[in-house]
Amino acid sequence: MEAVEARTGRYTGEPGGGVPVVGNGDIRSPDDVVSMIEETGCAGVMIGRGAFAMPWIFRTAWEAQGGVLEDGASGEPSETEKIEIVRRYYDRMREYRNELSAMHRLRAKISWLGKGINGSHCRPLKDGIRTATCAEEVYAALDGWLERAAGDLQPDAAAVS
Ligand SMILES: Cc1cc2nc3c(=O)[nH]c(=O)nc-3n(C[C@H](O)[C@H](O)[C@H](O)COP(=O)(O)O)c2cc1C
Repeated sequence: MEAVEARTGRYTGEPGGGVPVVGNGDIRSPDDVVSMIEETGCAGVMIGRGAFAMPWIFRTAWEAQGGVLEDGASGEPSETEKIEIVRRYYDRMREYRNELSAMHRLRAKISWLGKGINGSHCRPLKDGIRTATCAEEVYAALDGWLERAAGDLQPDAAAVS
């Protein structure tokens, strides 16, 4: 960071205003984003694995820095919204790739995504996605989980049933 600044000047965001340094590694929460920026003075951060588990981390981290979202969304998504985010991911994969690829992708990603759902207690959802053999079964797994959420999900009970 200091070495880059010493050579290129302090990053200002303006043309000729130094080279930006982007922080990366082990960002798992909005607080991690804020601390990395405050502690290192980096111009921004990249998020890898944290975004697999919480695709909404960009929204919550932006808010943690005082940012306001154009669509008015705010805070950690509800459990229902999280499932809608998973559904949107799957729908887009079906649209941009194909049926089979989308299903394989979601199966591979559901362990990561599950970490951010119901405090990581969502085994029935993960099992439903992993064993799905067609789009209808994927949607049934998502809808089944939404029904549980509507019925005031009991995390541990749901995880073992
Ligand atoms: C699935 C996956 C693929 C990655 N692919 C690359 C890559 O192609 N090139 C690269 O420089 N880093 C790659 N990385 C490393 C990430 O860019 C990042 O530096 C690393 O994951 C640490 O950030 P994180 O703690 O937020 O995940 C990859 C990481 C993951 C999890």
